[in-house]
Amino acid sequence: VSVRLDPPRLIARKRDGHALSVDELRALLDGYLAGEVAEEQMSAFLMAGVLRGFTTDEAVTMTDVFVASGDTVDLSDLTGPTVDKHSTGGVGDTCTLVVAPLLAACGAQVAKLSGRGLGHTGGTLDKLEAIPGFRVDLTPSRLHDQVERIGLAVAAATGDLVPLDKRLYALRDVTGTVPSSALIAASVMSKKLAGGARHVLLDVKCGNGAFMTDAPAAVDLARLCVDIGRAHGRQTGALVTDMSQPLSQAVGNGLEVAHAVDVLTGQREGRFRDLCLDLASGALELTGVSAAEARSRVEQALASGDAAERFRAMVEAQEGDPAVVDRPREVLEAAPVVQTLRPGAGVVAGWDCRRLGEVAAGLGAGRRRKEDDVDPAVGLEVLAPIGTTLEADDAAVHVHARSSDDAAWAVGELRSCLHLAEGEAVPTPALVLERVGVEGT
Ligand code: URA
Repeated sequence: VSVRLDPPRLIARKRDGHALSVDELRALLDGYLAGEVAEEQMSAFLMAGVLRGFTTDEAVTMTDVFVASGDTVDLSDLTGPTVDKHSTGGVGDTCTLVVAPLLAACGAQVAKLSGRGLGHTGGTLDKLEAIPGFRVDLTPSRLHDQVERIGLAVAAATGDLVPLDKRLYALRDVTGTVPSSALIAASVMSKKLAGGARHVLLDVKCGNGAFMTDAPAAVDLARLCVDIGRAHGRQTGALVTDMSQPLSQAVGNGLEVAHAVDVLTGQREGRFRDLCLDLASGALELTGVSAAEARSRVEQALASGDAAERFRAMVEAQEGDPAVVDRPREVLEAAPVVQTLRPGAGVVAGWDCRRLGEVAAGLGAGRRRKEDDVDPAVGLEVLAPIGTTLEADDAAVHVHARSSDDAAWAVGELRSCLHLAEGEAVPTPALVLERVGVEGT
């Protein structure tokens, strides 16, 4: 049934809290992609939807229209179980660099199409490009062959994958319309469905560094994503995880690669490593392995060095310098200036995690305009997670900057990102807040 496109009427219906029919939504979204719906009309519609909400049916329809807007990847002739993971976006969230090699070492095949940094959040492609020579622009056939040969590839989406999401995401980013479960679910799940993997694990971030700041909303988003994935025949699960402080201690492209290598080579423990293990075993569970078996295989893949070797194989296959696995801090470019924030004595009660991401981006780790290049060397090392007791002269953050001016600016900004309590103990926030569709151990 074709519907005559009447954007003002559809905007008004959403403003008044009505659900749009499948045909109405399809007409509006397709019309936007075709240039028949103006940017201001789509902006108004999105804001009405963010404030009034969308139904589950609307989220499912949006996902389908997104997928149908472009190409899809066919992984059906790969021999292993195909697995994908996706984070809704965080700060110091470098899990893909560890999780993909872990899964490949466990016999899964990971053809991961990743994105670039957005707003205060980092992007996997920008991080990988900090490795000298590393290429993310693989053709579909090269990606496919690499995954069949070594079990993993992390690359930019080639061709015309979900063009509607690209357009809408850029618009949402500048109109305050990112935080809607239905819009995020359609954005994330359309890319996962188009990416072709049969098993999909989502890491839904929650906290002041995430797009979803409160737990009930994050859990709703996780359930919605899982429902959409399952309705399309994909084994889908989600973890809802804490993003009230940077996940790894590093925020910034090369710094994050170095930390991921540290985890892969068994030289770093803590929350970042714990979450990587949890995500990898959750994803493996979706392929039909028991939770306990998944956990033990993933731990073995890390301890044996197999995962580190898979990472090395990927770097080699994508033309990066494989010595990054042996000597990350020599191979990755270092920033010329390092300054340290010493905030004085107290117990770290909290971080303004979004602002930390913005400060790292301001140093050059992220973009101001979408055509900007990112600086691989700059960023933050956040040494004091929530609950840390700092003495008067202790360092809380090392700022890695291009210039002393940049470093001084960042140190000044960081003072107001850190909340210190006097005397009392502050509990560490739980890392995994909820599991949907995966048991865990
Ligand atoms: N990540 C996405 O891919 N899309 C969103 O809408 C939010 C986070």
